[in-house]
Amino acid sequence: MSESFRDVAVEAARQAGAFLRSRFGSHPAVSYKGSPTNLVTEMDRSAESMILETIRRHFPGHAVLAEESGALAGAEPFRWIVDPLDGTTNYAHGFPIYGVSIALEHRGALEVGVVYDPSREEMFVAERGRGATLNGEPLRVSTTTTLGESLLGTSYPNDIREAARDNLVEHAGLMYRCRSVRSIGSAVLGLAAVAAGRLDGYWEQRLGAWDVAAGALLIREAGGTVTAVAGATLDLAAPSITATNGLIHDQIVRVLKEVASER
Ligand code: IPD
Ligand code: CA
Ligand code: CA
Repeated sequence: MSESFRDVAVEAARQAGAFLRSRFGSHPAVSYKGSPTNLVTEMDRSAESMILETIRRHFPGHAVLAEESGALAGAEPFRWIVDPLDGTTNYAHGFPIYGVSIALEHRGALEVGVVYDPSREEMFVAERGRGATLNGEPLRVSTTTTLGESLLGTSYPNDIREAARDNLVEHAGLMYRCRSVRSIGSAVLGLAAVAAGRLDGYWEQRLGAWDVAAGALLIREAGGTVTAVAGATLDLAAPSITATNGLIHDQIVRVLKEVASER
């Protein structure tokens, strides 16, 4: 992929992230997307407008799938997948764990993935076949070989009160079998943490393409494994996810299947 794709993704993520950071703690007005636990703020929309404006300026013919704007058609076989603010609930409460996620797909293959953590000024970048970096330094997943020695991440559906799978049984099942489970409220930063070897694995039951696209490429390029939650191929059209360092993948999938079958 051309360097300019990566550069535009990085520019857009950095700009939106700087904007979010500059307004952090301002307690933005909250509205709800169909559920009292599914929050959206004017900051989500403003950050998304900034990102789309940058993408459109450079690549007016590309399609876009963005969380707040939905699908925008394009004339060329490229699609940008954008979560302008992941961790909206954290952000709205002034809890500084949130991120920006931007990916580029070409004919259905993920080519570029960028995750930016404005609080730590950490820029995670992956390009298919060219590895993953954090602030320019190469990234590698962890070398933990057993579930018992693993630190895992997860989170819960935004509409948990209505969701068919609330993830609590899975959380309990894995909590007793690993060192601990962290729920940080940002899938995007959880996946970036797997790519960086800070977490050994991450799973979640139901997400949007914008939550997983960049993170999946980061983890693959850092040497890890990404599948749907029960081990099938990741489906960006309806994603669930199990993402690991590869070494504990089968172990975590086995437990997830086991607890799901006992439900
Ligand atoms: C949410 C966060 C959360 C995850 C939800 C996502 P949002 O994204 O990543 O951790 O559990 O499933 O929808 O709404 O903050 O962009
Ligand atoms: Ca999200
Ligand atoms: Ca979001």
